[in-house]
Amino acid sequence: MAPRYSGYVGVFDSGVGGISVLRQLTATLPHEDFLYFGDSANAPYGEKSRDWVLRRSSDIVDELLEQGAKAIVIACNTATSVAAATLRAQYAHVPIIGVEPALKPATLAEKAGRILVMATPITLRLDKYQQLAERWGSGHEVIPVPCPGLAARIEQGNLSAPDLYEMLEGLIGEYAGTVDSAVLGCTHYPFIARQIRDVIGDVPLFDGTLGTAQQLERKLAERGLLTKSRGVGNVVFASSSTQPGEIDLYRSFFEG
Ligand code: DGL
Repeated sequence: MAPRYSGYVGVFDSGVGGISVLRQLTATLPHEDFLYFGDSANAPYGEKSRDWVLRRSSDIVDELLEQGAKAIVIACNTATSVAAATLRAQYAHVPIIGVEPALKPATLAEKAGRILVMATPITLRLDKYQQLAERWGSGHEVIPVPCPGLAARIEQGNLSAPDLYEMLEGLIGEYAGTVDSAVLGCTHYPFIARQIRDVIGDVPLFDGTLGTAQQLERKLAERGLLTKSRGVGNVVFASSSTQPGEIDLYRSFFEG
């Protein structure tokens, strides 16, 4: 995965998506070191079985901890829904922070609104999302839209190509001009925020990146794990994919 490298925050996702979270993590905590692991050889997670995602997430966390991680960020809504509770029970000594669809900020921002929630099929099927919708959705019309294939398409890059717009038209075109906001409930989707707005209209979009970064900061502070360094932290990328150019692709998503 990466050379042994102690005291860093391990961040993972099925592929490039979690880099949208990583960008916020480095903005909020610029002195911390991060190791980002993208499981691109196995993306997408959102259409696999729950057991598979649980096993794979647990293996990745094992590996990150073995390599010296002091905290873990599950930069994937799907893996958080499936595995966060189990992983926290398994590794009670390590802060494990997950990302969830930002329905709370979306509902708090609107008095009563029609809110689209885009996410993977697994995320929207599991209890965690159902509980979130029950807790925050009342008084709003919350419309969950599973987006099979979309994360896998974003993995390929070339995000202004016509086929991506065609896919978005098929998934969310019917909501054009009729929703007040949208929740990007998959960490891949912030990379196509502009394209999503091109299809549904210029509405506010909400994602879980800021909440996740703030939660990491709180958890590190609570446990006395914030770095003492005042220099700019290192960011190291690793991938399960051996495709040539994969790490360069990760860097290009990171640099924007
Ligand atoms: N980026 C992930 C998420 O937030 C997973 C997408 C996928 O692999 O299907 O759900």
